[in-house]
Amino acid sequence: MNVGDRHYRTIWLADDGRSVDLIDQRWLPHELRVETVGTVDGIAVAIRDMWVRGAPLIGVTAAYGMAIQALDDPSDTALQAAWEKLHETRPTAINLRWALDEMMRVLKPLPPEERATAAYKRAAEIADEDIELNRGIGRNGLEIIRKIAATKKPGEPVNILTHCNAGWLATVDYGTATAPIYLAAEAGIPIHVYVDETRPRNQGAQLTAWEMAGHGIPHTLIVDNAGGHLMQRGEVDMVIVGTDRTTANGDVCNKIGTYLKALAAHDNGVPFYVGLPSPTIDWTVHDGLKEIPIEERSGDEVSLVWGKTISGEVAQVRISPDATPAGNPAFDVTPARLVTGLITERGIAEASPEGLLELFPERRTKA
Ligand code: MRU
Repeated sequence: MNVGDRHYRTIWLADDGRSVDLIDQRWLPHELRVETVGTVDGIAVAIRDMWVRGAPLIGVTAAYGMAIQALDDPSDTALQAAWEKLHETRPTAINLRWALDEMMRVLKPLPPEERATAAYKRAAEIADEDIELNRGIGRNGLEIIRKIAATKKPGEPVNILTHCNAGWLATVDYGTATAPIYLAAEAGIPIHVYVDETRPRNQGAQLTAWEMAGHGIPHTLIVDNAGGHLMQRGEVDMVIVGTDRTTANGDVCNKIGTYLKALAAHDNGVPFYVGLPSPTIDWTVHDGLKEIPIEERSGDEVSLVWGKTISGEVAQVRISPDATPAGNPAFDVTPARLVTGLITERGIAEASPEGLLELFPERRTKA
């Protein structure tokens, strides 16, 4: 997407042809910093410390990590070690494992001397494919927004609530939950987005709000606790969120707090949609609550908050007593029964085993 008049992706091959340049998202919205990363260790740090984040972007970054490894040492042992190092960086987003396995699938059958070229080619393809998947989600989600807009008075906006950042910054471009929003804006449909701040790391306040402001989309930042109240008052027409892993039965794992939004939406008859590309579906998992590993991050993310001081310095402040321990589960699971629909690149699926298999019939196992 554009920042000012320059088009950016979140990650791209650096000029040296072996490293990647990526937007270091820790500094947004205050500074747009681009870092060059040229080692597998560096890629692991960038994912673990959330220079890049968002399930699809984590996957693409890891794919480039495998390419860097294939250039440094393409042996089976070295590739397997890189797979493991990258895989342990963030446990919940399934796109990470999907991308690492996809790189191995392509590289393993090749002789070592052919692996580096093939690895950079496949990593670039995965990045390009991510954009196409998101465009598909956008087109399908746009139809839902259009239908709601048709029930409104002329000029009245469709009010959409979103949680965390499932925007272009969480992918290579366009985003998942935001792709329908961007297409609706392009189509001239009046929309307004409620942006949950999304504690503890504030991806909503820092990233989604930056995206919305940058693209001129009317939006309002709200605290995480405000969504239920707004839904009770009829001020939210639909919720769209992203997901880090959706199970074969339609359970949706996403940023902590998503479940509470789904409960409030269900109680108030507000449609709750999830935008997801097919690599985010974990066909091996059938019970999200029992089977998805939930990342537990440092309590410092809860106790210390990043911001810009009045004097213009980007700094952290402590908001709780030094002696108070903090717990920080990073994701939760919204059961399929609370999900109105899964917006994929192939269409909108009911959140159920049958609903998903109708869109992805190749996943049916033979009886
Ligand atoms: O911890 P993060 O910032 O990586 O969490 C991101 C989310 O929860 C997103 O909603 C999810 O990855 C989908 S991104 C298209």
